[in-house]
Parts: sequence; structure tokens; C-alpha cells
Amino acid sequence: LRASWLGRIADAADEQALEGARLGALGKKGEVSLMMRELGKMTPEQRQQAGPALNALKDELNSALAARRAALSDAALAERLRTEWLDVSLAPRPRAMGTIHPVSQVTEEVAAIFADMGFGVAEGPQIESDWYNFDALNMPSHHSARAEMDTFYMARGEGDDRAPHVLRTHTSPVQIRTLQDRGAPIRIIAPGRVYRSDFDQTHTPMFHQVEGLAIDRDISMANLKWVLEEFFAAFFEVEGVETRFRASHFPFTEPSAEVDIRCSWKDGTLKVGEGDGWLEVLGSGMVHPKVLAAAGIDPNEWQGFAFGMGIDRIAMLKYGIPDLRAFFDADLRWLRHYGFAA
Ligand code: PHE
Repeated sequence: LRASWLGRIADAADEQALEGARLGALGKKGEVSLMMRELGKMTPEQRQQAGPALNALKDELNSALAARRAALSDAALAERLRTEWLDVSLAPRPRAMGTIHPVSQVTEEVAAIFADMGFGVAEGPQIESDWYNFDALNMPSHHSARAEMDTFYMARGEGDDRAPHVLRTHTSPVQIRTLQDRGAPIRIIAPGRVYRSDFDQTHTPMFHQVEGLAIDRDISMANLKWVLEEFFAAFFEVEGVETRFRASHFPFTEPSAEVDIRCSWKDGTLKVGEGDGWLEVLGSGMVHPKVLAAAGIDPNEWQGFAFGMGIDRIAMLKYGIPDLRAFFDADLRWLRHYGFAA
């Protein structure tokens, strides 16, 4: 009897089998319990013999049960430790991460450089009224410059009497808006998207410009030249960049100048700031008195310069990118090739 119950206890494979063995031996109707109940029917002599033996057996079975229970729970813990482990030193799975688009990156660089010279950042809407995009900039309805701009006009339905709107063809309307909002003196740049109906290797129908505007009591073209040369040296990370001002014409500036920077081509790459070549990078001039007046600024008290520069264009120059269209293809292989994506 003893050997058979000890055997069952020792062989119990889990908690359930062990509990079965316990009930079988020591439960209310267990074999050992029943035998203990038999003691009552025995003679005192028989009882004196069987009593202690049964008690000893009961104790022995109880401690065997406890030992087996402990062993089973140790084994269960060991099994959990074996299966539920985590290697915290393992390298994480590679995860695709977004990166900043080169145009956004360059826009931020430009803003940071101008911020060092005291220029804040202003913004305006991309769908612009005809008045802000043209009239206020001294381009009345039948001005020839309007036709040259390859403008996208917003469609208007029959009976729609809202003012005509366009996709802004340049960032210059932001000059008017910020002057109206904040008045003079002012020093801002206005980066953003502009639209013209034009498409080839160096033109996309949407591109980016950054406008510059500085109005105060005694601002001159000399200030413009200094600001631009400071900017180009910082942007192209060179000692200095010589600029060349070529007389030009814009309806909203007088005098006007197109600005070239000194550069050279060496083994197929462009070097800015050295060599005997010139590259046109922006349009600029002294803000026309009519433009100041349209924005509510007294041209007898205030004057200053404005410029407009292609952001994509200077990004192409800085990073040696030959085709403007690639900027807007969202091709990850291209972005990786130029180091703009991981
Ligand atoms: N708005 C002009 C353009 O888009 C650039 C410009 C800006 C010229 C400000 C002069 C002054 O070509």
C-alpha cells in the first residue's frame, strides 16, 4: 500500500495528477482515510498496532505530496524561464524612417542663414488674388509682364463674381501682404511654392521661391549686395562669393538687377565662388514706390530692396543635381543617391 501510493505521488506528471493521488489516499473517501475509520471497529490491541502505523503512513504521504508539489512548481518555473526569455542585446529589426525632403531641407538652411541677419519668415496663400499677384506689384490688367508669366488661372463658374484668382506665379505678393499686416520697417523672407505653366529639365509647373524684403529709412542696393553675398558664402559654405549685378527690369522694382554668382565647372561638377563663369540666381531691385503705396506704405518715408530666388535652383547647384523634375518624383532611389534618405 505504502509503496503504491508513494509511487503514484512520485510519478504525478502535473498538479492535477498529484491532486488525484492526494484524494485517492487521504481524501474523504481515500483509501488511507477509510482504513483510519476502520480503527474504531478494532480491538484495543489491534488498534495499538495499526494506529501509529497508519498515522506514520499519513505523515509520510503528506510530506511526499509536499515534496512533489514543490518539484512540479520548480519545473514549471524552469520551463517558463526556458521559453519566455528575451534577448535584450539583439539588434532591433530595421525600420523604414522618413527623412526631410531636400527642398524642405534647403528652405530651412536658407531661413536659418537669413535669421542670422535679422530676417523673419513670412507666408502667404498659394491661391492668390489677381490683385496681390499682379496689380499691387505694378502689373495692371493689360501689362505685358502678365502674359510672360504663364499663369494658371482659377476657373470661375457662370455668375461667380468673386475677384479673379490665380496660382501665385511668384512669392512677391507676400511682400504686399506682410507690409499691409506689419508696416515698415520690416525685414522678412517668404519661402514657398509658386506655379507657372512650364515643363522641361529646368522648369516644373510647381517650384519654390524665396522672397526677400527689407524696408527701412535708408536701405540701398549696397545693403542688398552685402546681404546676398553673406547669404551665398554661408549657403555654399565657401569663404566668399562674388556677385555680378546686371541691369534688368521688373515692374515692381526700380532700379532692377539680375544677380549672377561666380562659379566654374570642374570635372562635371559646379564650383561656386571661383572660376570665370557666371550663373544667374535671382531677380532683385529697389521696391518700386507704387508697390509701397499699394501696400499702404509712404514711399517718401520708406525705401528698401526685394529679391526673388529659386530654392530648387540653388538646391540643384549646392547638391549637383542635374534635373529639376527629379525633386518632385518622390523616387526613394533618387533621394538615397543624393543622401536625402536612409
Ligand atoms: N518675382 C520675380 C520673379 O519671380 C523675382 C523678383 C522678386 C524680382 C523681387 C525683383 C524683386 O521672377
